[in-house]
Amino acid sequence: MTGPEKAAAIARRKASGPPVTMLTAYDYPTARLFDAAGVDILLVGDSLGMVVLGYPDTTHVTMDQMLHHVAAVARAKPKALVIGDFSIGSYPDPATALANARRLIGAGAEAVKLEGGVRQADKVRTIVGAGIPVCGHLGMLPQRVLEEGGYRKKGKTPEQSAALLEGAQALVEAGVFAIVLESVVPATAEWISSQIAVPTIGIGSGGHTCDGEVSVATDLIGTFPWFVPPFAKPEANLAPQITAAAAAFCERVQRVPAPHLG
Ligand code: KIV
Repeated sequence: MTGPEKAAAIARRKASGPPVTMLTAYDYPTARLFDAAGVDILLVGDSLGMVVLGYPDTTHVTMDQMLHHVAAVARAKPKALVIGDFSIGSYPDPATALANARRLIGAGAEAVKLEGGVRQADKVRTIVGAGIPVCGHLGMLPQRVLEEGGYRKKGKTPEQSAALLEGAQALVEAGVFAIVLESVVPATAEWISSQIAVPTIGIGSGGHTCDGEVSVATDLIGTFPWFVPPFAKPEANLAPQITAAAAAFCERVQRVPAPHLG
């Protein structure tokens, strides 16, 4: 299936189910392992900045870094749809957004994702018009974390909820095939999901409030123990096993002195 065909099949899940599954992946082995599990979408998210590159937030990530990791995931040739995230500042206007969408596709992405609602509609329309599927992202927008002074829940008031719905409708009208809802109050996430024609994919927005769910890979498998978001639902805790394996290696190598030391 082509990228647009995979994206269209995801969009149809709004009506048919089952819920859409999305996991982040940033490298070849993780992409292969997650794909073998049958996940629908592999997102090369700019969370890369924190959980792989060691930055404090996503605002340090560059397009070159995104391209490097999109290419690694694409080399796994997954059945899942590969979405490449735009890095911060890489989609300031429709022409630049399209040029950078083409770079992500050139690196192996089959669709792209950007943050924001009404103000992104023209960019989405331009990218979709060029045949590239676009996923939206509303609610808490990590690329705005410095302006907003932290990670806060969205959709707490009727005004905030109405603004989120307006953004979602603008994105749908512009042609997105799905929308990530991040850190949206569960009742609002459920309400928006009931109002729009494309699947919503929730993170930090309550369980079973959206048409699907996304997890950051390291939250799922427990390989980034230094920060685990409160909404994370780990299915494995690999960090201690990795440290134990490294310690076992050190112990095995150092147990016997090097031959010349007798
Ligand atoms: O970058 C990312 O991992 C994301 C998810 C949190 C949806 O955008």
